[in-house]
Amino acid sequence: MKYVHRGLTTAVIAGAFAALATIGISSDSIGQQAAPTATPQMAIPSGEFNRFSVSTLRVDPETAAAEAPAAGAQAVTPEPISRGTFREAPAGFDNRTNGFDPQGPAFDRIDENTVVALRSFNDNRFIFEEVEGIADGLGPTYNSQSCRECHQNIVTGGASQVAEHRTGRIELLQFVESVGGSLIQSRATNPEIFEQVPFEDGVSTLRVSTNLLGGGFVEAIPNDTLLAIRNAQPAAIRGTALEVAVLEANNAPRIGRFGWKSQHASMESFAADAYLNEMGITTPLLPAENTSLGRDVSFGTAFDPVADPEDDGVDVRAFANFMRATKAPPRGPINAQVRAGDVLFNSVGCGACHIPTIRTAAPGTRINGGAIRVRDAVGNKIIHPYSDFLLHDIGTGDGIPVLPGAQFLSTATQLRTAPLWALRTRNRLMHDGLSFTKQEAISRHAGQATVVKDAFNALTPAQKDQVFAFLDSL
Ligand code: HEC
Ligand code: HEC
Repeated sequence: MKYVHRGLTTAVIAGAFAALATIGISSDSIGQQAAPTATPQMAIPSGEFNRFSVSTLRVDPETAAAEAPAAGAQAVTPEPISRGTFREAPAGFDNRTNGFDPQGPAFDRIDENTVVALRSFNDNRFIFEEVEGIADGLGPTYNSQSCRECHQNIVTGGASQVAEHRTGRIELLQFVESVGGSLIQSRATNPEIFEQVPFEDGVSTLRVSTNLLGGGFVEAIPNDTLLAIRNAQPAAIRGTALEVAVLEANNAPRIGRFGWKSQHASMESFAADAYLNEMGITTPLLPAENTSLGRDVSFGTAFDPVADPEDDGVDVRAFANFMRATKAPPRGPINAQVRAGDVLFNSVGCGACHIPTIRTAAPGTRINGGAIRVRDAVGNKIIHPYSDFLLHDIGTGDGIPVLPGAQFLSTATQLRTAPLWALRTRNRLMHDGLSFTKQEAISRHAGQATVVKDAFNALTPAQKDQVFAFLDSL
């Protein structure tokens, strides 16, 4: 589609800031109150390959307390746990707003000429679904033409079977990415620059597309809650909290929660990253074009007719606000079998990583390194993501760390606890999408999950069926 220059309205900007509310501490949803000892690993972006690169080393969780942050490093801003009154987050596969933005004009009456970015849920959904072409900045290397191609299932924003490809190799015991970055784009606008995986890059994984529905609630989980969850976990299964840079907050660090490696903490940062790395569209947050295996194919070469940044950043905010305004995935029918399985799921220990219930920050809380405040629609909500959003080594590590560099090597064997909400809408499971049943997915759990898996295996067949019925209700 033709590139449309979209402007912000003052009303929209004003609406982005809800009133500051009282903040306090409450821990009933997470079991135990623990002082946040934020000492995670730190990653900030580099201009070089358009994604995160190392800044300082702070190893999480046990050893880091002793390590001071490197000179100049910013500390994670505390985001206090709310003590307010909480409501269940709205849930539904219904293309309706959660209240973050108004619903807007009828979706099927919006077109390229009438769409107004950031006006409403329907406007932002239209932009999320838009198919981009070369004149819009697509490519030169890319994976897909629209966010929806990979994030639509039941409704726009769901997970899908589409997988992307990451590669690299081990040299002198160190992970080395493929030239130009570990993400191999699987499409190109010109056959000359199509990325073939170099033969020597023997480390390789697939990463399947994740669910975005309810993402605004996940973004509104305070840092302090994720750290308290981690601190409450028994040492044998304790997760790793990763500090990542919020691009739109001058790279301020925040606890990561989005993506298979919790590599982002904000919807806007992930959207900018996805626009560049999935679609090849540069923005003010990530203005440098991707290479083709290290070869410059940017504006000025024969392969890219559009000057950078190819989008003025408004699309990125529209994607972010679309995702923020989606409802959480709804549960399926709940019967006695499901309820019994729910109890077993927690009693064998699955729920220690797949945390059933989390509460979001109070409306008005500053999050994302200060970039935004929590709006009323996502503040003080109860969600059921079945994840701690932390990284764990359960023996399924794909060999590719969140970033190259010795200090991130441990993340090569770790993945984020897969949120189990909307599990009943997925049939290619785990990060690589290579487990096709929940039984297979469970049997791949080892490492930190060994004790829990053994407890699950010790259940009677009838009890296991109850757990499966429970999983099928998510
Ligand atoms: C080619 C398929 C593809 C396209 C196109 C795509 N994504 Fe994704 N998306 C993925 C995959 C795969 C992941 C998981 C990647 C990972 O973590 O390594 C993901 C993850 C995400 C996440 C993290 C959600 C979570 O918590 O796990 C967000 C947010 C996201 N995408 C937003 C977008 C936006 C916005 C666009 C459009 C600009 C987009 N994506 C386009 C495949 C795609
Ligand atoms: C130590 C933490 C931990 C424990 C305990 C744990 N899991 Fe997981 N689970 C994970 C991680 C991490 C992943 C993602 C692994 C990957 O993608 O390679 C995952 C993935 C899954 C998936 C795949 C979901 C998807 O969308 O792909 C299912 C299903 C699952 N777990 C069920 C369970 C059940 C049932 C139990 C209890 C028997 C359990 N898990 C215990 C950490 C844990």
